[in-house]
Amino acid sequence: MDKLNYKMGHFVALFVLLLSAVACHSASQNATAVSCTISKYNLDHINQAQSECSEITIDSLIVPYGVTLDLTKLKTGAKLIFRGTTVWQYEEWEGPLLKIKGTNVEVTGSDDHVLDGRGALWWDGKGGNGGKVKPHFMKATVTNSVIHKLNIKNTPVQAFSVNGCIDSVVQYITIDNKDGDTKGGHNTDAFNVNSCNNITIKHCTVYNQDDCMAMNSGYNTYFLDNYCSGGHGISIGSVGNGATVQGVLVDGCQIVDSDNGIRIKTKYGETGSVSDVTYQNIVLKNIHRYGITMQGDYGSSGGVPTGGVPISHLTLKNVTGTVDKGGANIYILVENASDWHFSDINVTGGQKKMSCKGIPAGTGVSC
Ligand SMILES: *[C@@H]1O[C@H](CO)[C@@H](O)[C@H](O)[C@H]1NC(C)=O
Ligand SMILES: *[C@@H]1O[C@H](CO)[C@@H](O)[C@H](O)[C@H]1NC(C)=O
Ligand SMILES: *[C@@H]1O[C@H](CO)[C@@H](O)[C@H](O)[C@H]1NC(C)=O
Ligand SMILES: *[C@@H]1O[C@H](CO)[C@@H](O)[C@H](O)[C@H]1NC(C)=O
Repeated sequence: MDKLNYKMGHFVALFVLLLSAVACHSASQNATAVSCTISKYNLDHINQAQSECSEITIDSLIVPYGVTLDLTKLKTGAKLIFRGTTVWQYEEWEGPLLKIKGTNVEVTGSDDHVLDGRGALWWDGKGGNGGKVKPHFMKATVTNSVIHKLNIKNTPVQAFSVNGCIDSVVQYITIDNKDGDTKGGHNTDAFNVNSCNNITIKHCTVYNQDDCMAMNSGYNTYFLDNYCSGGHGISIGSVGNGATVQGVLVDGCQIVDSDNGIRIKTKYGETGSVSDVTYQNIVLKNIHRYGITMQGDYGSSGGVPTGGVPISHLTLKNVTGTVDKGGANIYILVENASDWHFSDINVTGGQKKMSCKGIPAGTGVSC
């Protein structure tokens, strides 16, 4: 036992020596924690910090053009902290600009930090549909981890891809793409959620020009107490290509000044499934197109839904608020749907008349 302790102490001392000599400012806070600061981009130092440091601070970093800030080799249990303003030099490329991967990790930022995507350099009103090639902003793949208190600003296109995450929480994230409203921001989805199991996204604030959440696949997703402004609503889909979405709870969210409020879209002619979905305690305000919409014809122009991606066991409870005059309160166009329960729905103001199709009998709602 004594011998082992001695050896471990020796190793730590060695790390500290190595790091202060080669990589970053390092200090041993206790026998096992080594903290490092990265304030100048150097790939070797970033990799070394990940293999040796249990706490890494990214301080006012300028990331070169065409480069992903790759933090995918974090030690198990590591803490990653952003400080100051992190920026990326301009280049047309796919990104992502930031990638994070780890188990039992904590990712956070100091109060005044900003992850500044400087989206205006790329914005041309076309988003992902042409014009400049725009980098996705960040992608996280974490297990048993917490990502919190990040201030993300002006992403070129999609902001935060939550991909393959397990048993993790993303909370108190601000995604502020307001500038894109007047400067050509487009397809700036806030959270793209894919292939996760048991992911919670809560207490986030989003200003953008596309979905607040867009979820294409995965199990047990909790989207709670989030504020969404300026975008396309809280969306599941578009689901197709054999994907499964099972177990979604959207609770306590506000959606304002957005094209849609609650939206599920499934792809025309494709297969997959959407089941066990609840939206509850949702407040809508100034929705432009559809307050509540489920569409099974996504990607076609025909307005004819197909039933290969059935939406089953869907509950909407306590959804209130307003739609603009030119919009529709509810629009549902689905095929093969079953077991829907809508209650305490009071969405008003929209005067556009839509004809709905496929609402399961007994749902408790009509168009
Ligand atoms: C889901 O993840 C949370 C941590 O985010 C954890 O506390 C909880 O036990 C997990 N639930 C299940 C069923 O594993
Ligand atoms: C309905 O949702 C609103 C907004 O989240 C909440 O304040 C209110 O308490 C809910 N009502 C019920 C009966 O749960
Ligand atoms: C309806 O969904 C089931 C799966 O639940 C599927 O087997 C069937 O083919 C679908 N029907 C249509 C018309 O697509
Ligand atoms: C529905 O909401 C409107 C305001 O948006 C309100 O005037 C009306 O009383 C509500 N109806 C019910 C049944 O709560």
